[in-house]
Amino acid sequence: MDYLEIKGGNKLFGEVNISGAKNAALPIIAMSILAKNDVLVSNIPQVEDIKTFIKLLQNLGATSTLDGSNLKINTTSINSTKATYDIVRKMRASILVLGPLVARYGYCEVSLPGGCAIGARPIDLHLAALEKMGATIEIKDGYVIASAKDGLKGANIVFDKITVTGTENIVMAAALANGTTKIFNAAKEPEVVQICQILETSGVKIEGIGTSEITVHGTNKELLNLPKITVIPDRIEAGTYLCAVAIAGGEVTLKNIEPNHLVSVLGKLSDMGLNFEFNDKNIKIISSGALHPVQIITTEFPGFPTDMQAQFMALACVADGVSTIDERLFENRFMHASELIRMGADIKLNGHLATICGDELNGADVMATDLRASSALVLAALRANGTTRVHRIYHLDRGYENLETKLSKLGADIKRLSE
Ligand code: EPZ
Repeated sequence: MDYLEIKGGNKLFGEVNISGAKNAALPIIAMSILAKNDVLVSNIPQVEDIKTFIKLLQNLGATSTLDGSNLKINTTSINSTKATYDIVRKMRASILVLGPLVARYGYCEVSLPGGCAIGARPIDLHLAALEKMGATIEIKDGYVIASAKDGLKGANIVFDKITVTGTENIVMAAALANGTTKIFNAAKEPEVVQICQILETSGVKIEGIGTSEITVHGTNKELLNLPKITVIPDRIEAGTYLCAVAIAGGEVTLKNIEPNHLVSVLGKLSDMGLNFEFNDKNIKIISSGALHPVQIITTEFPGFPTDMQAQFMALACVADGVSTIDERLFENRFMHASELIRMGADIKLNGHLATICGDELNGADVMATDLRASSALVLAALRANGTTRVHRIYHLDRGYENLETKLSKLGADIKRLSE
């Protein structure tokens, strides 16, 4: 198994290109199930989750070619609507095929995704919404069996909790439904907005894009002609690199990003003492490496993203004071804390609250536990005295394209080695 060996202390300088957003590319690939044409997608991030998702669609019978960051996929040849456990267990975002499959074919079996490291990750809200739209949902042998022989019908859906993939699933299902679907308490993440914008460009009438109330007028199973799609930049990858410069010190320009997707992250970084220069789709961050403490509460967009919580915990470990983090979305998203403590961090956990007293960090052998936790350990290693080895970095490979190459080009002393 691969691991990363990082020697701390190097400042970072230069430019880094931000890749397309994994969490936009995944629902876009699922949306190809609604299309009757070849779907062409550019700026696809080259990460494991994308490869896994494409393999899922191929297992259903879709044909696709992935050339670098350009994907062509055609789903007219789909001959199975069973998403099996062996793929779904690897990536819970596979649940994104549920809405499109039942909307188009009137029947599908999707393995229950199960929990993951950061929490139980239920899909009850997805299923309740599809039932409101006329689907029959049965749970059998670990599979969700969804059927809607006469097609889905428009309905009023109220989400008890704001759910990103839940909103995406229902927007996509509603696009082919017979009648109008109103979604209340919808997610407003940029990735949800892009899905709605693509559907609107394909002729689906949608109101309320980017708001918590989305109205979708279905085509009554008329398949869509999807336009050429360019995946939006990955705001979490961008936030992670901003944090890398913040903790290591230096001056780095991030290219091809969307500053409007990073307002809460940039706000917290400026609270910590960082300075920025903005130039259209680029941001330059300037860091002395000195950091003020920070108070974080994770919430839905446009609030502070839970996917940036671990990275900010790493920053807080070397800030000049006491920081607090309140993780409001997931019940078990502090697993990076015990690994940071192995590096000398002073972190006290109390349920969903973390209190971090900034000090120095020292290199150690640490273990990645989930995608964003692994990036936090890399950030800590960039600052730590001595050498850190981050193990189980298959977690990182799921969502960061060429992380060690990009950091090495900026001046980090980082190598990928095999155990
Ligand atoms: C998406 O997950 C992202 N994944 C996650 O990113 C991200 O952390 C999360 O949204 C929150 O922003 C993708 O977009 C592929 P939710 P999702 O449904 O949709 C509860 C990463 O690192 N809930 O918005 O699965 C749930 O337990 C990943 O890239 C229910 O109770 O998250 C959580 O407490 C990690 N029932 C809250 O809602 C449901 O049916 C938000 O979850 C659905 C969700």
